[in-house]
Amino acid sequence: MLAVECIELTKDYRAGFWRPRPVRALDHLSLAVEQGEIFGLLGHNGAGKTTTLKLLLRLIFPTSGEARILGQPAGMMARQIGYLPENPYFYDYLRCRELVEYYAELANVPARERRRQVAWALDRVGMAGAAETSLRKCSKGMVQRVGLAQAIVHQPAVLFLDEPMSGLDPLGRRQVRDLILELKSRGATVVFSTHILSDAEQLCDRVAILQKGRLAGQGRLETLLAAEEDKVELVFAQAGPPQRRVVARAELWGQLDQLRAQGAVIHAVTPLRRSLEEIFLSPGAPPASGGQSAAAAAPAAAPVEARRR
Ligand SMILES: Nc1ncnc2c1ncn2[C@@H]1O[C@H](COP(=O)(O)OP(=O)(O)OP(=O)(O)O)[C@@H](O)[C@H]1O
Ligand SMILES: [Mg+2]
Repeated sequence: MLAVECIELTKDYRAGFWRPRPVRALDHLSLAVEQGEIFGLLGHNGAGKTTTLKLLLRLIFPTSGEARILGQPAGMMARQIGYLPENPYFYDYLRCRELVEYYAELANVPARERRRQVAWALDRVGMAGAAETSLRKCSKGMVQRVGLAQAIVHQPAVLFLDEPMSGLDPLGRRQVRDLILELKSRGATVVFSTHILSDAEQLCDRVAILQKGRLAGQGRLETLLAAEEDKVELVFAQAGPPQRRVVARAELWGQLDQLRAQGAVIHAVTPLRRSLEEIFLSPGAPPASGGQSAAAAAPAAAPVEARRR
């Protein structure tokens, strides 16, 4: 059974007051996340990441298509799902501990386990020392941490985190990375959105790259990144500071022979990888390899306006 599945998921919002017109936020998105995976949803601002997560939680409804979590129609399966919204906002007059306790109760954590679970969750997000601080006195990063604590307090099987590192300092980012890895080691599935590529590189088993609501690529990061392995970087020194030279793979041996003949010392020979940033920034161009492409996942979709005519 898949942990998360989106089948041709499409969402049109209505924008404009006097003459509302549909804006296609998500266009026939098909995704499959295996149980126990850490899955990254990557994309620019407005690419459709939050829309995808909200559709999965059934906070909004699809124009067409389907979403399933653990084989069931998507929605708030309180005990099995955890969710950190993009901009968490909580009732100001509760203390952090009270808020997390409230969410634990909503998720049906038995009363006898609640106290322990809440303490665990607050500790794991680095908020044990601020458990009795009221939320109105919390900084942005502290609210984000409390948001994470409420998402994990019931130890859900599937966790959806919308930009979990946002607003966190370097220590906080590291704590969240460690937490996500810990949850995975306990068997949880984690789906998170980000535009911070290094976070995705360090954490994700697989990613989906969204561009303007369409899937531009889905697969293992190594595969997505391996597309430019035909180039090699040489670092060598020849009676002076080390130099760097990028050569085609086919020319590598010739270059090495030449450098040896010149008495150079070779420091490193490294295959060049296509960086995630290059994939990310290439406008509209799906990655050359790495699993399913947008075209394979969905038939080319006409703009909404054109379809309505
Ligand atoms: N309630 C709404 N009404 C109208 N349009 C919306 C609404 N919510 C989102 N959109 C539009 O849908 C598209 C996708 O938005 P979404 O919030 O899913 O992007 P995102 O990938 O999460 O971006 P970000 O990285 O900025 O959080 C955008 O073009 C946005 O303007
Ligand atoms: Mg978003």
